[in-house]
Amino acid sequence: AAIEKGNHRHFMQKEIYEQPIVVAQTLKSYLRPLEQKVALPQMDFSFADVPRITIVACGTSFYAGMVAKYWLEQFARVPVELDIASEFRYRHPVLEKGGMALFISQSGETADTLAALRHARAEGQKIAVVVNVPTSSMAREADLLLPTHAGPEIGVASTKAFTCQLAVLAALAAKVARDKGVMSEEEEREIVEHLTEAPACMNAALAYDEEIERMAPVVAAARDVLYLGRGPDYPMAMEGALKLKEISYIHAEGYAAGEMKHGPIALIDEHVPVIVIAPSGPLFEKTVSNMQEVQARGGKVVLISDAEGLAQASEGTIATIEMPKVHPLIAPLVYAVPVQLLAYHVAVVKGTDVDQPRNLAKSVTVE
Ligand code: AGP
Repeated sequence: AAIEKGNHRHFMQKEIYEQPIVVAQTLKSYLRPLEQKVALPQMDFSFADVPRITIVACGTSFYAGMVAKYWLEQFARVPVELDIASEFRYRHPVLEKGGMALFISQSGETADTLAALRHARAEGQKIAVVVNVPTSSMAREADLLLPTHAGPEIGVASTKAFTCQLAVLAALAAKVARDKGVMSEEEEREIVEHLTEAPACMNAALAYDEEIERMAPVVAAARDVLYLGRGPDYPMAMEGALKLKEISYIHAEGYAAGEMKHGPIALIDEHVPVIVIAPSGPLFEKTVSNMQEVQARGGKVVLISDAEGLAQASEGTIATIEMPKVHPLIAPLVYAVPVQLLAYHVAVVKGTDVDQPRNLAKSVTVE
């Protein structure tokens, strides 16, 4: 059946709004809420024997992989290497015997990622894939197939596939941690609980739509935009910048908040909006001080946070999006929503072709 936009103006908008449902749908196959356990499909190898994980992907799927690296290292204490597919294959990567290579792709057909998968297989790696198209080439060539259940994604800018990837990757990190014996049952239970809360939190985040729409003209008027984040929210800054570039054609960069003073701060003046993604947690204060460095140079800060005492931190910002309180684990899933909405509304203000931005293809099947 033809896929319709329903009440939405664009497929991208529809897909942003579908996220609570499709993330819940995806989590259903990875969580056993009654037993409070994470469950993965049957596999013919054990994570306990995997000494190292290599994650390879492109674009937005790569940013999901970047978040997964933080989670796998933090929870499962397994060394993770991460690369974009187009670099991975040609740099003669050293792949440890018994290692697992993890490929993340919405389409399952991205040429660079598929070529990287075949290279890793030839090098004796176990192949795990997170894909949204279950009939795709990558799905067929996997030892461990971890499907996302986002449904068909039509907008060229990936949204719901991304948050579903994050949901699967969080469950994977917990499972690897359990199998490696570095996570207690109690910790697993907590992770299951937080992940189960994610769809409702994403729903709450969608309620900021109008507020974000109101501030979109400021960003739409800019030539350059910076996105800052730390820890697992650093990839979210990169993802926010990619979304904005793709559909609004505004130059944007995502940076680790602490790295900004090593270069990009030179770009800051009163014409540069800086989007600061700063969920509460141990890194919040540090990010706020990076934000103040921006403000001291006249930069226009948009703060996205759920921290206590946000009013104080947000002094001098041009806008503050006060997010629902969420556990840091699920922050990347929830904070994806406002960054997607911001890119969307800016593109609408600019009048670009939101669903089919110039020069881009939904699935890149050439290397
Ligand atoms: C994201 O908005 C992009 N259009 C693009 O970066 C995409 O994520 C990339 O091409 C990877 O595609 P895949 O997930 O289908 O492999």
